[in-house]
Amino acid sequence: MTNCLVCKNKIKPFISFGKQPIANGFLTSQEFQKEYFYNLAVGFCPICTMVQLTELVDREKMFHTNYAFFSSTSRGMAKHFEEFAQFIKNKYLKNKHDPFVIEMGSNDGIMLRHFAKEEINHLGIEPSKNVARVAMSNDINTTTKFFDEELAKEILSQYGQADAFLGANVMCHIPYIHSVIAGIKLLLKPKGVLVFEDPYVGDIVQKTSYDQIYDEHAFYFSVRSINNLMKMHKLEVIDVAPQNTHGGSMRYTIGHIDTHKISPKVKKQLKIESALGLHRPKTYASLAKKINNSREGLITLLKNLKKQGKRVVAYGATSKSTTITNYCKITPDLIEFISDTTPIKQGKYSPGTHIPVKAYEKFQNNHPDYALLFAWNHAKEIMEKERQKNGYKGKWIVYIPKVKIIKSV
Ligand code: SAH
Ligand code: TMP
Ligand code: ZN
Repeated sequence: MTNCLVCKNKIKPFISFGKQPIANGFLTSQEFQKEYFYNLAVGFCPICTMVQLTELVDREKMFHTNYAFFSSTSRGMAKHFEEFAQFIKNKYLKNKHDPFVIEMGSNDGIMLRHFAKEEINHLGIEPSKNVARVAMSNDINTTTKFFDEELAKEILSQYGQADAFLGANVMCHIPYIHSVIAGIKLLLKPKGVLVFEDPYVGDIVQKTSYDQIYDEHAFYFSVRSINNLMKMHKLEVIDVAPQNTHGGSMRYTIGHIDTHKISPKVKKQLKIESALGLHRPKTYASLAKKINNSREGLITLLKNLKKQGKRVVAYGATSKSTTITNYCKITPDLIEFISDTTPIKQGKYSPGTHIPVKAYEKFQNNHPDYALLFAWNHAKEIMEKERQKNGYKGKWIVYIPKVKIIKSV
């Protein structure tokens, strides 16, 4: 039993994935001996409905100067963040005198660049120094500290309050969430908004997309759990918008309480959540069973292909795939290598099960019989590119929402 990070009540884990390494911890063979492992387990709080990890990893072990995730590796995500920036400009910055935008977890500047190029006042907060450096080299104003209430006070005295505080795939990474929300509350102008998006627990439940569960994701949000959290800080959810990114995400818009009109979409989404049973422990017990079945299906398929002598290569050395490979025990005898376009990952090995990560050219120059799609959230972008431009004729293996083989046509 552990205590809820939001409301401090007792929570019980509903699934354990056993010992897991750092999801983005791609490593050299010299580093195998000292690789770090922790227990990956998820619990549900029956009081405030927050789904969360029950054991946490120190932030410095995950976010540092060799952080392997560069946001700008996907074209689809670049387009998504251009649209996100446009949405903020149209809805919240228009006609404002000298607006100010803050982004937490701004990474390589994939979103803030669209504010910087129009000379809109902005500040990125990005503690992983290697990715922050890319943003800074593109003239994006960035601090490399971790955001929390203390940093919020520093920012407040240096820059003043913001019209919009943004975050994508970062709020769910921060277990000291009360400090973060208290800091954001200080930084928001009276009519200012917090707009953030993260993988949505409703999609995880509906698609059995359990690979969203790893060390960096301390929380799995719903509209209900977010609203409960925000109300503790005299803030409230004023709008929501489902997103296709990262296999299904939710964008939340938050404002000071009793200040904004609340969109009818909030109530509608809460109804959908009740129908999905996101407030019930039973839903998560059933998810745990589906996760177990999914693992059985994937292992059986990969072992059968090996028996038949087929070549299987994985596509995309994602952080998500670390949970899949370690939980399903997918080792280099089942997968020849993982193809990835990120230079910092190439020549290294996948965390825990140590499958070699190779440059995309190795895939392109010697197509396998099957490609196991670890980057399934970019399926459309990848499959279209491979089929139309690069002549891939092999098959694809996917496992979300179900384990299946897809023909390349
Ligand atoms: N927003 C980008 C990056 C998401 S990855 C995108 O959606 O693609 C999460 C990022 O949050 C990492 O770059 C990590 O270094 C950063 N991060 C982690 N903890 C943080 C904190 N306390 N404050 C600000 N950024 C943080
Ligand atoms: P993500 O799912 O966390 O966004 O990570 C995607 C990973 O997949 C990242 O390491 C880059 C890699 N990738 C490719 O190798 N080829 C591609 O075409 C795309 C879109 C991603
Ligand atoms: Zn709780």
